[in-house]
Amino acid sequence: MTVEQARKEIQELTAKINYHNELYYQQHRTEISDYEFDQLLKRLIKLETDFPQLKTDDSPSQRVGGTITKEFKTVYHQYPMLSLGNTYSRQELKEFDTRVAKGLDGEPYEYFCELKFDGVSISLIYENGRLVRGVTRGDGVRGDDVTANVKTIRSIPLRIHDKSAPANFEVRGEVFMPKTVFEQLNKEREDIGEERYANARNTASGTLKMQDSAIVAQRRLDCFAYYLLGDEDVETHEQGIHQLEKWKFHVSPTYRKCKNIQEVLNYIAYWEDKRENLPLETDGVVVKVNRLDQQDRLGFTAKSPRWAIAYKYKAQSVSTRLNSITYQVGRTGAITPVAELEPVFLSGTTVKRASLHNANEIARLDLHIGDYVFVEKGGEIIPKVTGVDLAKRTKNTTPVTYIDRCPECNTKLIRIEGEAAHYCPNVNGCPPQIKGRIEHFIQRKAMDIDSLGFRTIEQLYDLQLVKSPADLYDLTLNDLLKLDGFKEKSARNVLNGIEQSKATPFESVLFAIGIRYVGKTVAEKLARYFKSIDKLAAASYDELLQAPEVGEKIALSVRQFFDNPENQREIERLKKAGLQVEINEKEIVRESDILANKSFVISGIFQHYERDQLKEIILKNGGRVLSAVSGKLDYLVAGENMGPSKREKAEKLGVTIISENEFEELLKGKQPPT
Ligand code: IVH
Repeated sequence: MTVEQARKEIQELTAKINYHNELYYQQHRTEISDYEFDQLLKRLIKLETDFPQLKTDDSPSQRVGGTITKEFKTVYHQYPMLSLGNTYSRQELKEFDTRVAKGLDGEPYEYFCELKFDGVSISLIYENGRLVRGVTRGDGVRGDDVTANVKTIRSIPLRIHDKSAPANFEVRGEVFMPKTVFEQLNKEREDIGEERYANARNTASGTLKMQDSAIVAQRRLDCFAYYLLGDEDVETHEQGIHQLEKWKFHVSPTYRKCKNIQEVLNYIAYWEDKRENLPLETDGVVVKVNRLDQQDRLGFTAKSPRWAIAYKYKAQSVSTRLNSITYQVGRTGAITPVAELEPVFLSGTTVKRASLHNANEIARLDLHIGDYVFVEKGGEIIPKVTGVDLAKRTKNTTPVTYIDRCPECNTKLIRIEGEAAHYCPNVNGCPPQIKGRIEHFIQRKAMDIDSLGFRTIEQLYDLQLVKSPADLYDLTLNDLLKLDGFKEKSARNVLNGIEQSKATPFESVLFAIGIRYVGKTVAEKLARYFKSIDKLAAASYDELLQAPEVGEKIALSVRQFFDNPENQREIERLKKAGLQVEINEKEIVRESDILANKSFVISGIFQHYERDQLKEIILKNGGRVLSAVSGKLDYLVAGENMGPSKREKAEKLGVTIISENEFEELLKGKQPPT
């Protein structure tokens, strides 16, 4: 490929990626799948690696991160980042209005209302149309330069395409983690045995300060822009907001211009409940005088502008009866107590249950069954119990005694030093732990066996057909036909899915086997560092500590996993079943889809190719390479000296056997004789 060709393709890819990004953030629409989007990005990165001279610092490839910042530089803000005066009272809001009216000597004015987004404020500096710096608020005068991390936030434009935009300007906004992303992240953490993060705001704040921007990129932060500063020729805050929209910043469409304080109060009342449905937490409303010249005249106090105020919503809290406490057992055996409440209406939904986190929390609240408890919707979607209404406590209430046996298998619970949760240690005999491990194994990020659902797992377990992931690979058609509602077609579909999972790359297999604290990212790093499951299993605690991302907690957990004979047997069975237990060194770049959905087994010696080469060609063209011949196999590529038993089996099962030449024909799109 020539430089010119590369330049052209890079331009096309950049335009495509930017187009899909904008579609997603501005219109909440998608035209391509996440996978296809990632493929475009991957291709762009590949070209930029091959032709580094063509890489620009506003390339969308910046979105995937990869920069490690050891220490964030402190930078001074051009304009200090002030805070806002705030109030919880409508009366004080009216007093604010009176002060504004007075300050403007009776001149007419309007307000611009926005929600107060509960995230992390950010200052974005643009020079000559390019994002050059992203800085946290810090102490208001100086903040941390988190540019590399900010660039991974896809809703923040890296470049402004409007030629008439001023040379220098600054945009302020709020970086946040959407509720759905936060919930997903917490699910993933629970899944690998980590404690949940407390709330989305702190998680967003922590994420923005992470050293590895590649991890920040995966966290899918978002940013609402709400303030334009600089030389831009606008007369009102409203025009500034429209300008930001035009430049393709993500502006929350919840703003409204209000003619007077009564309209402001209506706006506040309108959003009090509705804000629950927004993608992020909001804790109030920001009321700004709309005209900039009037803002200037009103000026600032030492700490905050006189032209704006934040009205804060009181956290909604209701009192209801605690009927009982139930206990859930997770995949890792961790016990979560749940408050079962008398149903009560709270900010738009009926609440029946609330998480109590752990035994310490119950003790801290001094909970009695039958108590009236206060329930709030805090930073999390799941409501929480914040206290007991002691005035309503009667003699009929009974203090909670925390369970000491597993509610599912009756094993005595244990507590690990330094951890708040109780655990059921019956790892291999406790039903939710076993089912949880299988569910973890089949999930999309792991072995991706989407023909198997949680309900099927439940049935397979109840019939004792599957007690561990390795059992999946021994399932037969007859086994599956025993399940409710399964016919030959659905059963074959499941078997196919299981068969196909054998081609899942090693890094996903490593995640799938469910080592505690080994999430997807750590699994990828371990796979790349140790290269095979055998080398990983043989690594000592100290050797493990040498690997990237691995600290004492993970090293210990990995050692414990591989030292357990039960796990050793399971791994041996998975290996025998034909799962990928070594890294595929070469990053596969798709060249075509001509072999898509086709599976191959390679056997024997070939004239023009090494076996690994053939394997790579198949993968590059969308096919899959399996290790064993089965009824679902599409092609057996037969070289010289192929084992006779393989051929026999293939013939018996009606698998198409092709030669090296026929394989080449297939690559050209021709069908081989069947
Ligand atoms: S305007 C000079 N608008 O609230 C005033 N701030 O206490 C500039 N915030 O640090 C701020 N949503 O992080 C403004 N729609 C909004 C906001 C907002 C959230 C945060 C911001 C600031 C804090 C002020």
